[in-house]
Amino acid sequence: MIRTPLLLTLVSGAYIGGLVLAADVSTLSSSLKVISANVFPGLRDIAADVWRNPEIGLDENHAHDLVVDYFTKMRSGEWEVTPHAFGMSTAWKLEFEFRTPAIPPSEKLPAIGFMAEYDALVGIGHACGHNQILLNALAAASMAREALIKLEIPARVVVIGTPDEENGAGKCQLQKASAFEDADIWFMAHPTNANAVQPMNSRINAFSDFRATTHRGAVRKAYEALVAVRDLAAGGLPGTSSSVVPVEEVGMFECNVVQGEISLGINGSSVEAVRQTVSSILDSTYPEVSFTAEYDTDGGVNLTAIGPGGHASESTKGPLVLTIETFRALSSEDGISFYLPGNTTLGALGIIFDIRSRYTHDITSVLDAVQAAIGDKAEAIDTDTVYPALEVTPFIPAIFTDLMTSPDFGSQTDWPILTFAPASSDAGYTRTEVVARGLAHLAVQLLNDPVMMANATAIILAK
Ligand SMILES: *[C@@H]1O[C@H](CO)[C@@H](O)[C@H](O)[C@H]1NC(C)=O
Ligand SMILES: *[C@@H]1O[C@H](CO)[C@@H](O)[C@H](O)[C@H]1NC(C)=O
Ligand SMILES: *[C@@H]1O[C@H](CO)[C@@H](O)[C@H](O)[C@H]1NC(C)=O
Ligand SMILES: *[C@@H]1O[C@H](CO)[C@@H](O)[C@H](O)[C@H]1NC(C)=O
Repeated sequence: MIRTPLLLTLVSGAYIGGLVLAADVSTLSSSLKVISANVFPGLRDIAADVWRNPEIGLDENHAHDLVVDYFTKMRSGEWEVTPHAFGMSTAWKLEFEFRTPAIPPSEKLPAIGFMAEYDALVGIGHACGHNQILLNALAAASMAREALIKLEIPARVVVIGTPDEENGAGKCQLQKASAFEDADIWFMAHPTNANAVQPMNSRINAFSDFRATTHRGAVRKAYEALVAVRDLAAGGLPGTSSSVVPVEEVGMFECNVVQGEISLGINGSSVEAVRQTVSSILDSTYPEVSFTAEYDTDGGVNLTAIGPGGHASESTKGPLVLTIETFRALSSEDGISFYLPGNTTLGALGIIFDIRSRYTHDITSVLDAVQAAIGDKAEAIDTDTVYPALEVTPFIPAIFTDLMTSPDFGSQTDWPILTFAPASSDAGYTRTEVVARGLAHLAVQLLNDPVMMANATAIILAK
């Protein structure tokens, strides 16, 4: 699989700039190659260290210290470094301004920000490559800084280390602390398995609690709800590019991670019948999923589905879906009941529905539809903070994809502009270097051209 990063842009705040004579940026592409050879290797080492030492959201102390130490010691005087920024212990901020004597200190300079993530997934590590997001932000910002100095472009560059993307909506906390008011446009690149420029979907988790007087009653309610939500999604969710992915609260569990192994006990059937049913369901739409079915000590058949698992934003059918469809096929048969192998005394089962939609505006209608499908099967449904969608300025993606077609960026012609954002696999450092260099190029172009900047931030007026 070719692993390549994608690009996201977020716009926030408004730019009111003075008149600046634009610099000649015709040699920017070649300058950035030279600059990158100088700045990238040290930053790649930081990313490699973060990858070897995964830390989950809000616990990213090692990653925080690596960045803060590097920029205070190795890059002393280049950036204003704020550790533990915005009241979050693992957030940080880097700031740089290029000002000529002609510009009054009171004049606000055009600014561009880069967002860096560096949290890992529980039990998995940096599966979806947040260490590469960190690298992308640090590299793009460092390259942009050098180019601004070289071209004498008065401007400001900010990088924010944003903790806890996976679980606790760290950027929401940062936004409440006004962290993103400091720049006009924010860039971020997330690794995935295909190139694309796209917005990031809005997200909310629905924590659903299924209870009954018997264990098998609780399992049945939970799986009935899982079937209902699958049917709802198959019929079309409200909003644009909306999705709902269930995660069962068992075993190695985290709300953002679809398990690679799920067991469902089936009582009142035979191993042969269960194997036949599952085999009839399991087809090529379940990539890399397999199963075992054996009699167990609970008195039934332990069906265990095994597959790739991974990030809840992935849309492929995994092990949990295979058990849901098996439940659907068998649940109406007389005398069949279901249980969790090895856990048959539990009277409750939790399922988290990871809900996403293209626009923040639509997320509550998707949530409402999911809640309606679950209905009174759940004892209670709690939700967390709405994670807002990140928007792409209309004409920016075309500039970036054009840049990628030039020889300096590898003559790449495979950059579509999409509306759906699967965030899955790791990306190689080479790819991150190219995307970071492209973002640095775009940032310098924007910072150098007040008309283009005003155009890019015009989207904010709709706010
Ligand atoms: C048993 O249930 C508990 C509580 O929900 C859960 O933490 C654990 O992972 C479950 N184990 C199995 C094998 O289902
Ligand atoms: C399976 O069914 C048998 C017979 O009804 C029952 O004795 C046993 O407790 C059931 N086991 C589970 C785990 O439901
Ligand atoms: C169910 O089967 C799986 C796969 O063989 C096994 O790993 C798991 O331990 C079994 N569960 C119980 C409770 O025996
Ligand atoms: C401003 O945006 C429009 C489309 O939104 C585009 O056609 C135009 O070229 C842009 N102008 C500049 C200077 O970037």
